[in-house]
Amino acid sequence: MRVPLEDAATIILSGGVVAVPTETVYGLAASCSDRDAIKQVFALKGRPSNNPLITHINDISVLNTLVKEFPPHFKGLAEAFWPGSLTMVLPIHDNALDASITAGLKTAAFRVPDHPLAQKLIDKTGPIVMPSANLSGRPSSTEPDHIEDDFGIDFPVIDGGMCQKGIESTVLIYKDSYWEIGRLGGISAEDISKVIGYLPKHPQNTQSTAPLCPGQLYRHYAPKATLYTDKEIPSHCEVALGYTQREYAINIPTKLLGSIHSPEEVAHNLYHVLREIDRESIQHAWIDTDIPTNGLWKSIRERILKAASSK
Ligand code: TXA
Ligand code: MG
Repeated sequence: MRVPLEDAATIILSGGVVAVPTETVYGLAASCSDRDAIKQVFALKGRPSNNPLITHINDISVLNTLVKEFPPHFKGLAEAFWPGSLTMVLPIHDNALDASITAGLKTAAFRVPDHPLAQKLIDKTGPIVMPSANLSGRPSSTEPDHIEDDFGIDFPVIDGGMCQKGIESTVLIYKDSYWEIGRLGGISAEDISKVIGYLPKHPQNTQSTAPLCPGQLYRHYAPKATLYTDKEIPSHCEVALGYTQREYAINIPTKLLGSIHSPEEVAHNLYHVLREIDRESIQHAWIDTDIPTNGLWKSIRERILKAASSK
């Protein structure tokens, strides 16, 4: 159910949850100061309680009372990428935020979204938590119809059309004197390196080490259809997902993710296409993973591989 911004603010201020557009993906918004509403967010998504939430703010001076210590380059990163699709994980004072937001960690994730509707809403409500507005494990929502698919037609959503970036923010964490990437996303490691002077590592999650972002433990971004990433298209696939310039010598339909020369376009369309194949009840789909390995393509590849993973 589409709701005007004013109504959305009223819902949040009276303890409810609303889906809100940002430039990355839609978020499920609740007030940072309402523990029951935050619990509702976890319940709606089916999200494990040990996966902390991002606090969304407009005015970075809010951080002065919450954050214990600003790591080197914090200011430069904020100036370069806020408002925008960078999330920074910072050490916070004890009890500065409710443990339901931080999953009991001594750090918290912050982002200033670059979307006029999200910003206007935060002006009215104060800081809000916003995990991506999808059932846990599913592709994030990039348009209001996706919210309806996951939460029903009566669920309140501010209609901002299709999200411009289409994939989530990059999560950057300061650890042992270096910034590291906990989740690849809308800002590339290369762009971050221009501010901090080195390429931030993105440690791979292994069985023996805890992931930097607890959320990266779980299967993610996945359509109901099984996605195949083999070099050759398996014969039982019903559709191929590929790129504008390529010819696929096949007798099944192709759905285009965008130009092989534009990772921005592919990121913008990725979840739309993954959700579209589910709407068409497709069971088996192949996706072309012969894509570049740098910049935003890295974030796209990680999402495709997670969406195709069976675990
Ligand atoms: O683009 C986005 O970031 C979207 C929009 C709505 O802002 N939000 C989003 O939230 O993707 P969510 O909850 O789906 O993903 C947040 C990620 C999770 O992987 C979580 O584990 C990580 O951020 N995270 C949050 N707090 C953290 C912390 N203190 N330390 C490490 N990782 C943290
Ligand atoms: Mg998410």
